[in-house]
Amino acid sequence: MIQPAEVAFSPEGVPYSSTFDDIYHTTDGGLGQIEHVFMAGNALPQRWQGRDSFTILETGFGLGLSFLATWQAWRDDPQRCTWLHFISVEKYPFTAEDLANLHARWPQFAELSGQLVSGWPALTQGRHDILLDGGQVQLTLLFGDALDQFPQIAIQTNAIYLDGFAPSKNPDMWSLPLFTQLARLAAPDCTLATWSVAGFVRRDLTLAGFAVTKASGFGGKRHMLLGRRQP
Ligand SMILES: C[S@@+](CC[C@H](N)C(=O)[O-])C[C@H]1O[C@@H](n2cnc3c(N)ncnc32)[C@H](O)[C@@H]1O
Repeated sequence: MIQPAEVAFSPEGVPYSSTFDDIYHTTDGGLGQIEHVFMAGNALPQRWQGRDSFTILETGFGLGLSFLATWQAWRDDPQRCTWLHFISVEKYPFTAEDLANLHARWPQFAELSGQLVSGWPALTQGRHDILLDGGQVQLTLLFGDALDQFPQIAIQTNAIYLDGFAPSKNPDMWSLPLFTQLARLAAPDCTLATWSVAGFVRRDLTLAGFAVTKASGFGGKRHMLLGRRQP
């Protein structure tokens, strides 16, 4: 049974989850962190250029802001890959109506949000595939707990955005069993990026088979984490 997310805001006006007592994105609007950590951290857009296809896997769809920013960057890139596959998991998805209202805060994504919201699936457990941009962009949404959903898919991802809520508030999204699933789904060239450099995250990613290094972080954060699938 899927329970939809409830719309709430922090005192700074940032979308907030009372279930996890955490905010969905940084107080600057979120896009700076997405570009610096998730995109540049996975060497995007360069790595998808000139390829037939490129796959990105994300932990935590939330508002879909990382997806919208990635899709927009893909659209703006004349050397983009032919087919972009974005896979994300979400235990508490927003309803289509709430997503549309929340996306109004980023008018630059109005067209993409409109496409996404019109294709938004029923909030039922499991896999939902949405074809966007004339079929050149595929969004696979896995509704349910990440640890139930990831074992059911078989893909080879080229990049991973690790974006649960803070590890202290949302440890399930940063656990060794979950990282082991990510390693199983990782293509040989797979990279990952996240804003968290928590010690146990670095340790468990390494145990799961990713070589991790710190890089300079975004905004108030001194560091972020980059990872690469080990052979
Ligand atoms: C920081 S938010 C993600 C923000 C999102 N990437 C965006 O661009 O808007 C973390 C998300 O992880 C989801 N989540 C937390 N625990 C989960 C779990 N065990 N399985 C699946 N999703 C989970 C939360 O509901 C929340 O939407």
